[in-house]
Amino acid sequence: MDSATLQKQICRLKDSLGAVILAHNYQRPEVQEIADFCGDSLELARRSTDLTAEMIVFCGVRFMAETAVLLNPDRPVLLPEEGALCPLAAQIDPPTLQEWKDRYPGLPVICYVNSTVDVKAHSDILCTSANAVAVVESLNSDGVIFIPDGNLGHYISTQTEVTVISYPGNCYLHDRITLREIETARHDHPAAQVLVHPECRPEIVAVADAVLSTAGMIRYAQTTDANELIIATEIGLLYQLRKRVPGKQFHTVGDGPTCRPMKLTTLDSVLRILQHQQPVISVPSAMRPGALRALQRMLAVT
Ligand code: 13P
Ligand code: SF4
Repeated sequence: MDSATLQKQICRLKDSLGAVILAHNYQRPEVQEIADFCGDSLELARRSTDLTAEMIVFCGVRFMAETAVLLNPDRPVLLPEEGALCPLAAQIDPPTLQEWKDRYPGLPVICYVNSTVDVKAHSDILCTSANAVAVVESLNSDGVIFIPDGNLGHYISTQTEVTVISYPGNCYLHDRITLREIETARHDHPAAQVLVHPECRPEIVAVADAVLSTAGMIRYAQTTDANELIIATEIGLLYQLRKRVPGKQFHTVGDGPTCRPMKLTTLDSVLRILQHQQPVISVPSAMRPGALRALQRMLAVT
């Protein structure tokens, strides 16, 4: 079946079921097109707080769907691809987190949302790339433990006086972006500004014109005087940028960083999940109160 036919079927079925489709900015263009709302992790979490739909179809990775589950305990949340797991989220587990807490007693734990629900449940507060610095500063602590992204932790440490003890996890595709790729893009597009996601390595962040979440990049592109922008993050964002900021030019870096788990979701898998309405994503009930507390604490900050 072609994309246009699939999209029509999805929209018809979605409407008849009273479902809402939320999608992350890294989803395939044709999936972004059928979403009711596209956004970054923070926008998607916020959007999940005021939904009235019968069910939520989450086009993203599992930790994002779990956030929607925490905020919508009475609504089914469907993830079209069960295997859409963020590898960064798997890089720390509760026993390892406990070792870090024992090593730095008394320090609050800030947990990036790219994490499992059981790790969230043992953390003090969550953050996303959009609000990480504000969350750290909200705690009024001289030091914090930051898990699990070491590059984001390092970036935060450059933006605040707070001592940030960072766990050494990383996102495989942001961590792989090289200075040479940025220099090549700059050489090819000398008038362009460079926007960098804070999951990139410190040497990439150091040469950026701005360091932003994916939604932050869209807002920046809408307001900057620059007509050309180099985008150092996952390739899917370029579709949303070109759609929302049509007068400007956007260039990727290297051969276009691509998140495999994000790209698992296709129009076929969205149609299939709407037809079968299962499996429904759940979080273990023992983890729910702690993870929800850390999430709500974050939502209260920004
Ligand atoms: P954003 O919250 O900036 O969209 O980033 C999510 C993510 O997974 C980055 O790799
Ligand atoms: Fe995870 Fe990286 Fe993909 Fe974001 S881009 S979902 S951090 S693997």
